[in-house]
Amino acid sequence: MTIYQANILFTSSPTQFEVYERGYIAVDEQGVVQGVYHSLPDGLIYDQLVDFGDKLLIPAMNDLHVHAPQFCNMGIAMDMQLIPWLNTYVFPEEAKFADEAYAETVYHSFVSELWRQGTMRAAVFATSHTPATQILARSFADAGMGALIGLVGMDRHAPENLCNTPISWVSGMKALVDTMAEMPLVKPIITPRFIPSCTPEMLQTMGEMAQQTTLPVQSHLSENQQEIAWVQELEPASTCYGDAYHRYGLFGDTPTLMAHCCYTEGEELRLMREQNVCVVHCPTSNCNLASGIAPVRKFLQAGLNVVLGSDIAGGHHLSMFRVMQYAVQMSKLQYVSSNGQYPFLTLSEVFYMATKAGGAFFGQVGSFEPGYTFDALVIDDLCLSPHSIDATSPIHRLERFIYLGDDRHIQHRFCQGNEINQP
Ligand code: GUN
Ligand code: FE
Repeated sequence: MTIYQANILFTSSPTQFEVYERGYIAVDEQGVVQGVYHSLPDGLIYDQLVDFGDKLLIPAMNDLHVHAPQFCNMGIAMDMQLIPWLNTYVFPEEAKFADEAYAETVYHSFVSELWRQGTMRAAVFATSHTPATQILARSFADAGMGALIGLVGMDRHAPENLCNTPISWVSGMKALVDTMAEMPLVKPIITPRFIPSCTPEMLQTMGEMAQQTTLPVQSHLSENQQEIAWVQELEPASTCYGDAYHRYGLFGDTPTLMAHCCYTEGEELRLMREQNVCVVHCPTSNCNLASGIAPVRKFLQAGLNVVLGSDIAGGHHLSMFRVMQYAVQMSKLQYVSSNGQYPFLTLSEVFYMATKAGGAFFGQVGSFEPGYTFDALVIDDLCLSPHSIDATSPIHRLERFIYLGDDRHIQHRFCQGNEINQP
């Protein structure tokens, strides 16, 4: 057993932070939290006590929607909306991942950058290329970080060198499952790119695999109005975009992540609730691609589960702290433009989305309650609070770090109880 001492903050519920000023957290040999305390209990037996002094100790970040092969496009080419942006910038970049040497270089840098930004687990889109996707899985496993990794299924409306077929996708998934057999923190996820990229045969095949394996599913939903109109043309019998996935068993029959949902309402909202489909809110991307402002408060009021995604390279930054900040700020714009109908998101709500709500897709991850895996960051924010660290509450220190801090202020990173060094 190891005891860590610091100013501990986490959110076991969305409504408030739990704060242990100069508190203690006990972590066993398996990396599981045994207890969190204001003062050390008498008789507690432990091997070592690590004192992080006045620093902050928080759960590590979980990014539930990110495109690893778009890493080189991060921060550029945000001058178009979704469909032309995909055709002009994204598909040509992703086609490069037919080259394994390119994949090795870029995927290693990608995982290293995730680490730098304090994200220890991610739900990741790879490309349609199996060898490159195996390389991505190995990059996470070698780093000791967690991931759900999707070999993307796409067999229409894209360049031929970026398309696979239902048959090659199935054999690729089998190869991926074999590769991941020895990787405890890396798992596969069924990943149709989105309805316009997948023929009915592809969707059928993916839905059948979901039923047979109970593997989770991730995709895109109701991101952009041109896209939604196109889906209605392609799947005219569907009652809404979400129903186009549901018809193929790809909408909540197994744990399901749907990114964006900027225009989800009515029947689609009802279906998401009924099928327990999780919304991945991607505010940086929705802003950069001028997609829309997702009605997150409405989703929360309807009882939907909401998590956060960086969605690079629609999103411009891998830091989930930036994503949290955008989530709050965009909800404030929506609050004003709805004349106060939808109260804006609070800091504890967005922190909960990036920690405990997102972590649930990886096991008992994202909180410091007993039984949770110790995925954690030590934040040294002293230089952000030069005059008054003693006078500033831990919650305000965390808020200031979320708004003003960056990787320079992250001093240690833990995943599954192990300190993770830069990959
Ligand atoms: N819809 C289909 N593919 C993509 C993608 O790569 N990024 C985003 N933001 N939306 C998509
Ligand atoms: Fe995306």
